[in-house]
This record gives sequence, C-alpha cells and structure tokens, in this order.
Amino acid sequence: MVSEIQSKKLFSVTLRVWRQAGPTVPGKFVDYPATNISPDMSFLEMLDVVNDELTKTGDEPIAFAHDCREGICGTCSCTINGKPHGPGKGVATCQTYMRSFHEGDLIIVEPFRARAFPIIKDLVTERKAFDKIQQAGGFISVRTGAAPDANSIPVPKEDADLAMDAASCIGCGACVAACKNASAMLFVAAKVSQLGLLPQGQPERDKRVLAMVQTMDEAGFGNCTNQYECSAVCPKLISHDFIARLNRDYMSALFKARFKPASHAAAGD
Ligand code: FES
Repeated sequence: MVSEIQSKKLFSVTLRVWRQAGPTVPGKFVDYPATNISPDMSFLEMLDVVNDELTKTGDEPIAFAHDCREGICGTCSCTINGKPHGPGKGVATCQTYMRSFHEGDLIIVEPFRARAFPIIKDLVTERKAFDKIQQAGGFISVRTGAAPDANSIPVPKEDADLAMDAASCIGCGACVAACKNASAMLFVAAKVSQLGLLPQGQPERDKRVLAMVQTMDEAGFGNCTNQYECSAVCPKLISHDFIARLNRDYMSALFKARFKPASHAAAGD
C-alpha cells in the first residue's frame, strides 16, 4: 500500500534568488533549480535542500535568517514573488509551505528592502533599527506591583483583547518592506498600543510614544500614507487601526509637552 507521504507528488521549481556577498558590494539575481520538492516542505526547508546541493558542488549557500521556524521570532524575512513572507495570508516565511507553488514555477526571492534595513548578505538584513525603537520606550520601567496586584487592577475586556492583538507583533519588518514609504508605523503602533492600552502603561505613555516616534524618524523610516500594505502582509494580521491610535497618542503627548503648565515644567514633570 502506498503511504500518504509516498503518494505526495514531488515537484521542481526554479528559484531566482538575490545574491549579495556583503553590505557594500552590488548584488544580483541568480537562478537555481529546486528539484524533488515535497509540497509539505516549508519554504525554509526547501532553501535548506537547495543549500545542501550548493554545498555539494562547492558553491556558497544562500544566506537567510531564521530562528524559531514557528512564526514566533520574526527572524525569517524574505520577499517572495514581490510579497513579504510570500503568498499566504497571516503567515511568516517559515510557515509558508511549498504546496503554495506548482511544478515549473519561477519563484523570485529577495531580501526585505528598506533604507533602514541594510542588506548584510543575500536574504539577510540588519533590523537593528527596530531594536533601537523598542529600546527608546517599548517597556514599562515604573513599579507595577507584585504579581497578585495584577488581579486587583481591572482591565476592560475590549482593552485587554486589543492589547493582546498588538502584542502579537513579532517585529519581522514585513510592514516596512511592503510599504512604498518604508514606514515602520504599524510596528511602532503595535508596540505603543500594547502598553498604552493597559493601566500599567499609563505613567510613561506620553514619554514612550514621543521617544519611539522620534527614534523611528531618526532611523530613516518613511511616513504612513494610508495605503495599508503593512497590515495586508503582516503575518500576525495586525490592523492598521493601531496606526490611528498611535497618531492620536502622539498628538496628545506632543500637545501636552508643548503646552505643559509652567509649574510642571519647573518641577521637571
Ligand atoms: S523563523 Fe521565527 S518567525 Fe519565522
């Protein structure tokens, strides 16, 4: 009896991959055959197979970033056929399966492209800019009490749900790669909202949003022009509504900072 695995038809595709030896050298697309591919392989497993073949022939394997391979860490970041993370909706590259492709397909694979994400090698980009934004304010440093205290601070269900939605951002950078302005506003909006929706995030709410937006601007990300490409490719389906929330938070904090009462300014509040 033919097992289910044996009955799955292996197939072959051609990869057109961006190869770039380092950050300062020019890159180019190079074609590679990917043969005997199982539809059940993830996209990264398929790249592993291609790299095995390249290694056997003494060629340089394709460099690509990955860690969890479970859609959690946000490390795997390729643009596949023009779409960050590939053809699926709500999935990262590591959760994209070869069953999304067909025999004979030409699959174009390139790194996330944005000025703030310089290419390190092949498909690997430097996304330290996101770390800097996070370090500027994506945390709570005030005392939030002991663990049992959390149960004594009621949080409306709607806010808790929204905070959880925002917290699902894995910081992969697909939103930036998809945006024609390379805007990081969906990422920043998720990080600001995740904390700004909760009581524990209130004491530093204004300071947080001002610092994170300033760091975002300094890192070279563009602005949002409401195209919503970001939320369309987000592997966690984070809504662009969070960008409106970010803008409101930012304007409110800016207003308060500009028109701070003299007594507060003197006290350094
Ligand atoms: S490897 Fe971690 S999200 Fe894809």
